[in-house]
Amino acid sequence: MLAEDLKVVLASSYAYQLKAHYFHWNVEGSDFAQLHEFFGELYQEVFGSIDKTAELVRQLDEYAPGSFDRFRALSIIDGQTKVPRAKLMLEELLEDTNKMLDLTKRVFTVAEEENQQGIADFIAGRIDAFAKHAWMLRSFLKARD
Ligand SMILES: [Fe+2]
Repeated sequence: MLAEDLKVVLASSYAYQLKAHYFHWNVEGSDFAQLHEFFGELYQEVFGSIDKTAELVRQLDEYAPGSFDRFRALSIIDGQTKVPRAKLMLEELLEDTNKMLDLTKRVFTVAEEENQQGIADFIAGRIDAFAKHAWMLRSFLKARD
């Protein structure tokens, strides 16, 4: 059901942006400035999608979840409580980004099947955004082999 899928996108996007924000605060190392800036742009981009996602749930006449408990139950993105080294932060976010790509591609198909073209368009934009984030994360990791 599309509304349930969008709730998963909402909770997962929230968990993703919180982790990127957390890494923005706590990253350390010789390229601190670059990574602090990059993680900053990452969390802001994903945060910018959250309100629209919740409003699409409402458009489908379901209520949007909005608590840590509900988000934790719905999210496919695990939280992080340790402070990993910069390379591990990048690897973890790349893995999470690939999970978001799989999720949004699946939800896109559901939106098309349910003939919800506006929602499919929005999700297509999220697929593009996560594909761009994956490219940047891979590129940051390349220098660290
Ligand atoms: Fe900041």
